[in-house]
Amino acid sequence: MNIYSEIVLEHYKNPHNYGSISKANKKTVLFNPSCGDRIEMEAVFTKKKLEEIKFRGQGCAISIASASMLTDYVKNKANEDLQKLDKEFMIKMLGINLGPSRIKCALLPLEALHNLINSKS
Ligand code: FES
Repeated sequence: MNIYSEIVLEHYKNPHNYGSISKANKKTVLFNPSCGDRIEMEAVFTKKKLEEIKFRGQGCAISIASASMLTDYVKNKANEDLQKLDKEFMIKMLGINLGPSRIKCALLPLEALHNLINSKS
């Protein structure tokens, strides 16, 4: 039996918002130190909201699905609302039970998003 939900697997197989944005005004690259997997995230922020976001990288099913679902969710959200997204939100969004090592995979895209929000350029 598979431990991942159909939704997670679908996002892994066909990730949404995968790619890059030529006019991005914020970019970040993040590694999961426990496995070496990498996620790159690019976005266009206006003063008030996140207008566009895409990601690329190599990762397990959880990290890719998590990035796909998160980038879907955050598009067009107000910057102040993005700050509030946390671990609990990610667990709820993925809807699966994650052990301590898998939680790092799920949180990698959230960490990348926070890097984007908090970076200067
Ligand atoms: Fe590397 Fe999940 S095992 S990100």
